Amino acid sequence: MIDVQHRQTPFQVCLNREWITVQQPMTVAALLLSKNTLATRAAVSGATRFAVCGMGVCQECRVTVDDQPHQLACQVWCKEGMVIETGGENARD
Ligand code: FES
Repeated sequence: MIDVQHRQTPFQVCLNREWITVQQPMTVAALLLSKNTLATRAAVSGATRFAVCGMGVCQECRVTVDDQPHQLACQVWCKEGMVIETGGENARD
């Protein structure tokens, strides 16, 4: 459980090799939505995928966070200095 009321904001995260400022506590999926990054990964077919359920069930929101592949963007809170990557080989099925 994260204590979002006491989180210090704003802070910086790196999204797809670009440092951006996060203005308020949010999950990685919410950050992606706010930045219009609507593709978390590519399916085996090559089709782009994005969050569907928002509650950790569908697995469609998997991204790489701090070099850890297959992290659920809808379940991970943004943190200072976090490096987030969407798509690419690490995010593939
Ligand atoms: S949106 Fe379904 S698991 Fe994250």
